[in-house]
Amino acid sequence: MADLAKLQIGENSYEFPLIKGSENEVAIDIKTLRVTSKGVITIDPGYKNTGACKSSITFLDGEKGILRYRGYSIEDLAEKAQFLEVAFLLIFGELPTKDQLTQFHEDIKDNAIVDDDVRKIIDAFPKSAHPMGILSSLTSALTAFNPSSVNVDSEEEMYKAIVKIMGKLPVLVAWVMRKVQGLPLNYGSKSLGYVENLMTMMFAKPNEEYTVNSIVKDALDKLFILHADHEQNCSTSTVRIVGSSHAGLFASLSSGISALWGPLHGGANQAVLEMLEAIKEDDGDTKKYMAKAKDKNDSFRLMGFGHRVYKNFDPRAKIIKLAADQVLNDLGISDPILDIAKALEQEALNDPYFVERKLYPNVDFYSGIIYRAMGIPVEMFTVMFALGRLPGWIAQWREMRLGKEPIGRPRQIYVGQTYRKFKNISQR
Ligand code: ACO
Repeated sequence: MADLAKLQIGENSYEFPLIKGSENEVAIDIKTLRVTSKGVITIDPGYKNTGACKSSITFLDGEKGILRYRGYSIEDLAEKAQFLEVAFLLIFGELPTKDQLTQFHEDIKDNAIVDDDVRKIIDAFPKSAHPMGILSSLTSALTAFNPSSVNVDSEEEMYKAIVKIMGKLPVLVAWVMRKVQGLPLNYGSKSLGYVENLMTMMFAKPNEEYTVNSIVKDALDKLFILHADHEQNCSTSTVRIVGSSHAGLFASLSSGISALWGPLHGGANQAVLEMLEAIKEDDGDTKKYMAKAKDKNDSFRLMGFGHRVYKNFDPRAKIIKLAADQVLNDLGISDPILDIAKALEQEALNDPYFVERKLYPNVDFYSGIIYRAMGIPVEMFTVMFALGRLPGWIAQWREMRLGKEPIGRPRQIYVGQTYRKFKNISQR
């Protein structure tokens, strides 16, 4: 392939270099377009064809259903690694040695205490508040209790900020759930693993001994790995663009949490469960909901189906479907919701509407079923996703700051009124 792209605008032609990625992806570098063409820009709502950065963190091929973190396949990592190893890999680029992993975990534990005044902020929220709203607010509020900006030229300061948020976010996640459930806040124990401690902080009752169920722990670990990064999705792009203004790490993460909340993104896991519940209440009438999803006059979408990038299958969904079966089996739970989900998937996979549009189950189609089996309330599902995505957001923020990327500032094509003379209120 030539290494130049040519663009003809009227009489004028312009040449732009092509950039090739390590997996042979190609981009046209249009950095000089606006200046050389005297004002022409590109427009691409939803950034369907626009690369915002070069990144060496995650590779995904939506046509082939490939997802790799730093070169390692998601299948291998989900089967063989622990979440904290994957977090280290994503953030620092290599799998940790045993010593590095132990040190990373120790540093995280040493930074897990949240200023007790944060409890006052939690107390001020009504019980009806959505956990994602609370989590986003608390993450932003952490800035008030910690230095507001990180000197990114200091690896040491950067590392400290990273272990701080890796330590404190699970505490906030657990506290958010306990607040909504009216349970006293709990710190767990430093003697426990990362995910075990999270479970203890979430589930331990004040009046009984709590033992971590290893099946639930392994499944949660796997879910976190599967959610840990997904290159330039909506919330990650948000973290990078907010961070590009040199806003602090916690503020950037807080905005990522808000972006993830939406039902077209991470909020889909809650929406899927609510949809499956509605179908169950409706006598399991999957056909009715399939028809609604296909009806262009109905805004209903089959939640957990379709993906901006995966147009074949979502490799995470394959792993999660298996895990859902396994967890429910191991826990001895028979959930009619799982049967409805499987029936819906079968119908969609054989329906021309879904086949033609390449709509397949995504990561969120089965994750809610596992969370539910673990006893996690439905409004907490997206919060769990946020905790899993934390290392990815951190890795992307770090890459963006170390790469000294310029502030993110898209342009627009103005289609509003041209100049108008101001009219006094009496003349309008
Ligand atoms: N149900 C019914 N129809 C759908 C669905 C769906 N879930 N998803 C897409 N379509 C249809 C659209 O109506 C459109 O049809 P048309 O060509 O006749 O107009 C076509 O498929 C393409 O859809 P777009 O919205 O243009 O695709 P896009 O890539 O912009 O959207 C998205 C991807 C947002 C994920 C979409 O598929 C969707 O809304 N899915 C349901 C929500 C969901 O599960 N989100 C989680 C995604 S995974 C994640 O963020 C972690």
